[in-house]
Amino acid sequence: MKNIRIAIDGPASSGKSTVAKSIAKNLGYTYLDTGAMYRCATYLALQNGVTLTDQEAIVELLKEYPISFGHGEGHQGKEQLVFLADVDVTHPIRDNQVTNNVSVVSALPLVREALVDLQRQIAQKGGIVMDGRDIGTVVLPDAELKIFLIASAQERAQRRFKENQEKGIASDFETLKQEIAARDYKDSHREVSPLKPADDAIIFDTTGVSIEGVVNFILEKSKEIIDK
Ligand code: DC
Repeated sequence: MKNIRIAIDGPASSGKSTVAKSIAKNLGYTYLDTGAMYRCATYLALQNGVTLTDQEAIVELLKEYPISFGHGEGHQGKEQLVFLADVDVTHPIRDNQVTNNVSVVSALPLVREALVDLQRQIAQKGGIVMDGRDIGTVVLPDAELKIFLIASAQERAQRRFKENQEKGIASDFETLKQEIAARDYKDSHREVSPLKPADDAIIFDTTGVSIEGVVNFILEKSKEIIDK
């Protein structure tokens, strides 16, 4: 069986991570959440009182506190854990403060360079599902399968709202929608690696489509390539 590389890109809350995790599990592949890596860089800057645009200082912090992934028992059963050095930051990197500042840090060229290097190293052996914004365009331009997921801002805000409710986090729907639109704008208009589909990506609109529907579609495409 071929070990292919699957790139899943798309805007915030388009369902990328849920879908990517499910595909990785189904194929026995590694799942890499690249958004978590940009969140780690942002978290390090915030925790260490480093100015969010000081790219050299943030790259130094990433060297001092290397990012790694593990598995463990989380709030919702087995989950992927994210570590900075030996500290579990799985949940802190999802805090609002990180979420609302990550677009600034992820626009820094030196931070992207450092994290893209790491992402490519992890993907070297193949058998990987990576989700992010620039996987098909920059990180793995020769990935065997590239999917670009989209969904209306309304639907994405609804998903985020429901997720928050389930986690017991209070949120305001209109604010969520505005935050999603603001992040979309920043992610698509930054100079370095803006969010956009690769020319050879399959664009899939998940508005009104169930997670299973999206997963099955991608699995079918993956198997066509694996079995070829
Ligand atoms: O997928 P997420 O919401 O956890 O991503 C957090 C931020 O990181 C998002 O605002 C855009 C940025 N990001 C990026 O620039 N490139 C990636 N490959 C993944 C995420």
